[in-house]
Amino acid sequence: MEEREKPIGVFDSGLGGISVLRELVKIMPNEDYIYFGDSKNAPYGTKTSEEVWELTSHTFRYLLKRGVKAVVIACNTATSAAVRRLRQEYPEIPIVGIEPALKPAVLYRENSRVVVMATPMTLRREKFRLLMAKYEDRADIRPLPCPGLMEFIEKGILTGPELDGYLTDLFLPLRSEPIDSVVLGCTHYPFIREEILKVLGGGTVLFDGGEGTARELRRRVLLRGLGSERTSEGRVAFENSLPGEEMKRRAIRLFTGTYM
Ligand code: DGL
Repeated sequence: MEEREKPIGVFDSGLGGISVLRELVKIMPNEDYIYFGDSKNAPYGTKTSEEVWELTSHTFRYLLKRGVKAVVIACNTATSAAVRRLRQEYPEIPIVGIEPALKPAVLYRENSRVVVMATPMTLRREKFRLLMAKYEDRADIRPLPCPGLMEFIEKGILTGPELDGYLTDLFLPLRSEPIDSVVLGCTHYPFIREEILKVLGGGTVLFDGGEGTARELRRRVLLRGLGSERTSEGRVAFENSLPGEEMKRRAIRLFTGTYM
């Protein structure tokens, strides 16, 4: 098969990266995609960096064996643990990761209060601390670790009292002052945007990095002359490290928006 007609690999610790996949398909509908969710080993966000590196590089090599021409690490946690090293080890493959969309959130309004929701690991890593240091003097930035939140989305719970209760408790310590914006620094969270907005009330704006990541991948793929020349719609294949069909079914429901 010609190099440029090969699929693009997209992966995450579970189903969250489908929020990025949706953006990819929007701007590059003629490409083929293999989406791999590592739900068996999820969550990544409460593991050590070394464990996440091992899992991420394992899935990366699997995708290469499946013949992908480029890889999107559609997981903030895996990106922070592995993207730099993978780029060094595989310079011939376009690799794009995702990081919390802090810049647009800070630029949105001067001297605003910005909450960054992400996994404990993403917020602990130097990559995030450096990102935060860049904008610290322009906004009041509050990192908010969310252990246990991705599990709701993995289970297909995108709404309801249990999730509302979790979010209400999560934001409680920050509610004394208004929150101007919230960065969704984990790819699972865009699937519960409405619930987050409901708990926060009006006036808060949400930011996520899915669209920017998709644009960056397109840029890198085109730069290397790897864009598909097909004019018809591409295919999306869903794979998951958990056996059985259930995770695949959930993946398709998230992808097509049929949970809501
Ligand atoms: N979706 C992953 C991210 O963007 C995190 C979920 C997990 O903890 O595995 O960070």
